[in-house]
Amino acid sequence: MKSKKFYVTTPIYYVNDRPHIGHAYTTILADVLARYHRLLNVPTFFLTGADEHGQKVQQAADKAGISPQQHADATVVRFQDLWKKLEITHDDFIRTTEPRHKTVVQKLFQALYEKGEIYRAEYDGWYCVPCERFFMEKDLENGACPDCKRPVDRIRESNYFLRMSQYQDWLIQYIQDNPKFIQPDFRRNETLGFLRKPLTDLCVSRPKSRLSWGIELPFDKDFVAYVWCDALTNYISAVGYLSDDVKFKTWWPASCHLIGKDILTTHTVYWPIMLKAMGVELPESVFAHGWWLVGDSKMSKTTGNVVDPMEFVDKHGVDPFRYFLMAEMILGQDASFTEEAFVRRYNADLANDLGNILSRLLKMIESYTGGLLPEPGQPGEEELQLRAAAVESAGAMELAITGMRLDQGLAAVTNVVRAANRYLEKKQPWTLAKQADKQPLHTVLYHAAETLRIVSGLLFPVMPGKMTELRQALGIQEATPDIRSLKEWGLLKPGTKLGAMQVLFPRIMPEEKKTETSVGAGTPPSRPPKEAKTEPVGVALVEYADFQKIQLRTARIISAEKVAGADKLLKLQIDVGGEARQLVAGIAQHYDAATLPGKTVVVVANLKPAVIRGVESNGMLLAASHGKELRLVTVEGDFSSGAVVK
Ligand code: ME8
Ligand code: MG
Repeated sequence: MKSKKFYVTTPIYYVNDRPHIGHAYTTILADVLARYHRLLNVPTFFLTGADEHGQKVQQAADKAGISPQQHADATVVRFQDLWKKLEITHDDFIRTTEPRHKTVVQKLFQALYEKGEIYRAEYDGWYCVPCERFFMEKDLENGACPDCKRPVDRIRESNYFLRMSQYQDWLIQYIQDNPKFIQPDFRRNETLGFLRKPLTDLCVSRPKSRLSWGIELPFDKDFVAYVWCDALTNYISAVGYLSDDVKFKTWWPASCHLIGKDILTTHTVYWPIMLKAMGVELPESVFAHGWWLVGDSKMSKTTGNVVDPMEFVDKHGVDPFRYFLMAEMILGQDASFTEEAFVRRYNADLANDLGNILSRLLKMIESYTGGLLPEPGQPGEEELQLRAAAVESAGAMELAITGMRLDQGLAAVTNVVRAANRYLEKKQPWTLAKQADKQPLHTVLYHAAETLRIVSGLLFPVMPGKMTELRQALGIQEATPDIRSLKEWGLLKPGTKLGAMQVLFPRIMPEEKKTETSVGAGTPPSRPPKEAKTEPVGVALVEYADFQKIQLRTARIISAEKVAGADKLLKLQIDVGGEARQLVAGIAQHYDAATLPGKTVVVVANLKPAVIRGVESNGMLLAASHGKELRLVTVEGDFSSGAVVK
């Protein structure tokens, strides 16, 4: 059995590019996997870094009129700053221009040369600069790069070659015998397809006369190492290959090289053959994820649709961004990035489901049990179901992580949040609060809180900042969660003082559309007001479409209190179809705060938020007033909150 450890890598990105959401995605995914493995108590090493040699970097430096090293020094910080901002917890960041890396590449070339794995010959073929790849005439597609379809350069020169062709049969066999080596399955088939054609030996050098920006070959100072051989070696040079045996034995072979589908061949053909030729074990797996598209199109500088992760995070926050990327992409497949999709998922999963249950719960515990977590009574059928769902989601997440099905693990946790929301809806703690026997109320509050403890631990690797806030609000002492406590029920201690907190995920209001009068299907088209004669004096008639703009919904009052220093105002916490809101209403002289909780009222749900006497108000209550009298518009009986009023 392989020793239990987790060594995960990302590609080392070319420094000449500006980091975009594609780079952010792979690195966040690696971070999330690393954090989950730490939560599973598996010793973890997480490596990322920068690819700083090669023609692309040299060309970019020439263009900027500086040396390639100056260029790399200036641009590598964009990546390093971004990783800080995205809360990436890598254990090492390797740059291929560092001496610790260059020495290893040189030793490795020397060894391969001495073993006769590398020989000198004439190269006559083509080179794609954006991909930094050599191609033979027969590989080209309509005279262009078969991978990125861009133009290629003709190269005819003396070079060094790695005897790759002799390993072709071995590699095919290896891939077939080790189904986990290339993932997902369809990528394995892609590599096997590629290996159906005869492999040509790999050109592993560039003459300095054409490209000097690289690692000099130890046996011929007129050449530098081909940038892909240099770059791939980072995965072993960073963990002590040929320099620190103990470290190397601890971490190598890597558990998972995470890559995008664009660099499958280099990682599943070149790299295993290089390792085989050196007599080094192969990585356990190479996982190629899909492509982020922007809407339906490829991200490209020329189209100008490249999403800058820094700007996006400044606007929407790091945790929601991390969550969206992880939840939205089915691992292995392509996904589409749009701000609308982000807002939709954020509002649904985070603002409505998770944020809402938390604020509802904290408010109820505040008003019903003085902010102290109550002692639960005997669990009934529903409690047992909720417990089972919560604890099982920890197991589901563990399986999802080891099986690289993160999106499924997240879906399992979101389902538990929904189940907890439904549980509250069904149990109606606001009704239970009116009973003399408080035990049922306490049982419900405790079960909801304990479910949130487990959920917050399971989402911690994806949203470390927000989940820390949530865990603190629940009075959890443990700094980082541990799988053992997430598979166990009942660890929150009754009597714990729960913290107050700001709204964890404030709802994002969709940006206003230019034409606001768009009418939904089935609604009558707007007509000019024919009956203008009967218009009451002073009140203009409105179009039906205008009335449609106002969203009236039912809401349940959870709690009410006076606004300090304002004798007419009450501050209400209400529930609108599972969404918790606060609003301020001028009804204090007509209603005693204590009589309001439990009432189902009607609110204008899409009123712009306002701050009244320093208190935030989201929405407006409907009330009828006549002279000095005022009555709230209420819905009779026990009726769902959030229903549309029309
Ligand atoms: O290829 N969607 O570096 P690179 C998802 N230096 N992921 C994307 C993406 C997108 N639209 N665009 C880029 C190199 N990526 C070499 C690697 S490793 C020894 C050397 C991510 O800067 C994805 O991980 O071109 C892809 O494989 C990587 O960025 C390519 O980064
Ligand atoms: Mg690239």
